[in-house]
Amino acid sequence: MAIQRLHLILVIFFNHLIFLSSQQEAAGFIYNGFLKAQPDLHLDGSAKILSPDGLLQLTNASTQQMGHAFIKQPFDSSEKNFSFSTHFVCALVPKPGAEGGHGIAFVLSSSLDFTNADPTQYLGLSNISTNGSPSYQLLAVELDTAKSAEFDDIDKNHVGIDINSLRSIESASASYYSNTKGKNQSMKLLSGEPLQVWVDYERTLLNVTVAPLRIQKPDHPLLSRSINLTQIFPDQKLFFGFSAATGSLVSYQYILGWSFSRSKELLQRLNLSKLPQIPHPRAKQKQTSPLLVVLSVLLSLIVLAILGGVHLHRRKKYAEVREAWEKDYGPHRFSYKSLYKATRGFDQDGRLGKGGFGEVYRGNLPHIGDIAVKRVCHNGKQGMKQFVAEVVTMGSLKHRNLVPLLGYCRRKGELLLVSEYMSNGSLDRYLFHRDKPSLSWPQRFVILKDIASALSYLHTGANQVVLHRDIKASNVMLDSDFNGRLGDFGMARFEDYGDSLPATAAIGTMGYMAPELTLMGTSTRTDVYAFGAFMLEVTCGRRPLDNKIPAEKRHLIKWVCDCWRSGSLLDAVDIRLGHEYSEEEIYMVLKLGLLCTNVAAESRPTMEQVVQYINKNLPLPNFSPDSPGIGVYIPVLLGAASTSRSSLEPSASPPSPHNSMFVTHTITYGDGR
Ligand SMILES: *[C@@H]1O[C@H](CO)[C@@H](O)[C@H](O)[C@H]1NC(C)=O
Ligand SMILES: *[C@@H]1O[C@H](CO)[C@@H](O)[C@H](O)[C@H]1NC(C)=O
Ligand SMILES: *[C@@H]1O[C@H](CO)[C@@H](O)[C@H](O)[C@H]1NC(C)=O
Ligand SMILES: *[C@@H]1O[C@H](CO)[C@@H](O)[C@H](O)[C@H]1NC(C)=O
Ligand SMILES: *[C@@H]1O[C@H](CO)[C@@H](O)[C@H](O)[C@H]1NC(C)=O
Ligand SMILES: *[C@@H]1O[C@H](CO)[C@@H](O)[C@H](O)[C@H]1NC(C)=O
Ligand SMILES: *[C@@H]1O[C@H](CO)[C@@H](O)[C@H](O)[C@H]1NC(C)=O
Repeated sequence: MAIQRLHLILVIFFNHLIFLSSQQEAAGFIYNGFLKAQPDLHLDGSAKILSPDGLLQLTNASTQQMGHAFIKQPFDSSEKNFSFSTHFVCALVPKPGAEGGHGIAFVLSSSLDFTNADPTQYLGLSNISTNGSPSYQLLAVELDTAKSAEFDDIDKNHVGIDINSLRSIESASASYYSNTKGKNQSMKLLSGEPLQVWVDYERTLLNVTVAPLRIQKPDHPLLSRSINLTQIFPDQKLFFGFSAATGSLVSYQYILGWSFSRSKELLQRLNLSKLPQIPHPRAKQKQTSPLLVVLSVLLSLIVLAILGGVHLHRRKKYAEVREAWEKDYGPHRFSYKSLYKATRGFDQDGRLGKGGFGEVYRGNLPHIGDIAVKRVCHNGKQGMKQFVAEVVTMGSLKHRNLVPLLGYCRRKGELLLVSEYMSNGSLDRYLFHRDKPSLSWPQRFVILKDIASALSYLHTGANQVVLHRDIKASNVMLDSDFNGRLGDFGMARFEDYGDSLPATAAIGTMGYMAPELTLMGTSTRTDVYAFGAFMLEVTCGRRPLDNKIPAEKRHLIKWVCDCWRSGSLLDAVDIRLGHEYSEEEIYMVLKLGLLCTNVAAESRPTMEQVVQYINKNLPLPNFSPDSPGIGVYIPVLLGAASTSRSSLEPSASPPSPHNSMFVTHTITYGDGR
């Protein structure tokens, strides 16, 4: 019996204890997750607590949902200076591909009966007829993610204070005051990430503050409004809780944790690390129709084809021929792309000239400067290696009176030669064209010395004997100081390697070609002969062979000799020189020209000797106009070997280029115009 009584007493005692503790809870409580909150909470609608970690889901992402979660026990607001403070963490998670809505509200309500409330913009709190009625006792702090025209919402990302009506009496776009930065930062409610809300009420002032999860409570609230709770809740009975709703706009809406206290000072801190995780919905695999699949596959194939085409086009555009043996010549090899860019795509505006072999373009390479690029067509394969080796050799030739060859590039059927750009163009333009001023005798004399020096270097100064094979005014370039620069050396050689020409074929320009050339081939002596003709050309201002002038003067060598024989050598001098020249120099140069053009190769001086004569270091040997081989013009007999190239119609000769680099090395009648 005694035990039964004791049991009874104990039951009464513990019941009382439980009652006491629930009273205390009413003064303040904390839920880090809602697993243990079940008995204290009134849930309705779509609201439920999700296992395993107690996430309070107010709505899922179905349409027209609403859910409520309230503390079952009401609060008495009758006492003087009624105040409360609350801090909760919620999350509004958008459904992938759907526009989110409508929002969550922290609610003070006189009743837990929301059966007649509507979802959507009413947030599960009122309906069209009750909204705004004072009999409907309600205060809500809304996190609204839909812009409702009915309630004059400012945007679809705002926080508002509602009294009896969903038309907010105070609202602001979601933002928080950053204590560290000292300024307001906007934030997104419907970010899918947890966010914190504080609602403080003290001495009739209601403050609302929001912030992202890991932020300390901002020093300044977002909303602050004076509110007399007694006026709203005359019965002075308050239920605290949450409401949320979806309409045609949907989102998952959760409460993760909630701390509440009747006094701001006693508010317990939420343990953010203990809060439940929010599930993040993944975008469902959309059903794709087979047609769509086929179409997208087709589309990607087309795109691939286009991309591939562009790639192939680019590759073809910049394609080069490169062979293993060329690796040795690496530094002298330019990429086609760089040359293409340097000449702006071989722009016609930059074209310096055109010859039978190809065209020459002006360009500019970074770190190198102005260049001339000669595009030479070729179809020969044999000899290419030897030729490139020669190009490289030529690249190593350094003489102040040579046009520096910088390198080359090979493509299919095309060879590109890169040399320094000579700003004053080719000598023939000053001699034969009216677009350039005539050169004075001192200038011409300097150029002759320059070219003699360059040729002497090619014959004896380099590691090997290099023949020029095509000395003439159009192959002499003038740099910015009007120094003579011998260009295109070795180019004639290129023709040798063409597949249509035997290696022994005659190369050169009619009028400059030594008579033995077709029989014996080229040698330093044939270069000397051509240089002799060139000296006469420069001094007399006319080409060695000119079909337009009367027969007795047509052959320059013969005519100069005739003038000498008749004692009037100066008659041969270019009339554009006037009489501004040293007769002594003229005599020396013209006689030296005749000496060099002796038909007997062995009677010609060497280039070393020519340099000595022309620099007046050595007197000319004694000879007369009647000496053997002097002043004789023997037309070059073109052998059978070269007939393929000797269709000597003047039209076969290219228009005179603006820059001698592009003059062809086909056999021509001295540009016979
Ligand atoms: C949302 O919850 C309701 C029940 O409250 C259920 O019928 C519906 O299928 C759920 N929708 C989703 C998307 O989970
Ligand atoms: C209530 O507020 C008044 C002034 O508004 C203050 O003097 C008083 O101390 C407050 N009482 C309590 C219990 O906070
Ligand atoms: C609105 O709610 C009130 C009571 O809460 C109810 O009497 C009324 O019928 C509801 N109206 C609509 C349109 O649902
Ligand atoms: C509300 O915010 C104001 C500043 O805007 C502040 O002075 C007041 O103390 C705050 N009240 C509460 C209860 O936090
Ligand atoms: C920050 O926002 C609050 C509330 O909207 C406003 O009163 C305040 O002037 C803003 N402060 C700044 C620095 O913009
Ligand atoms: C609040 O409203 C009640 C009833 O209207 C009034 O008696 C009371 O004085 C008001 N309190 C304040 C602080 O304005
Ligand atoms: C020769 O080149 C220099 C430097 O580029 C230039 O200033 C000069 O005008 C040119 N002379 C002629 C006649 O083209």
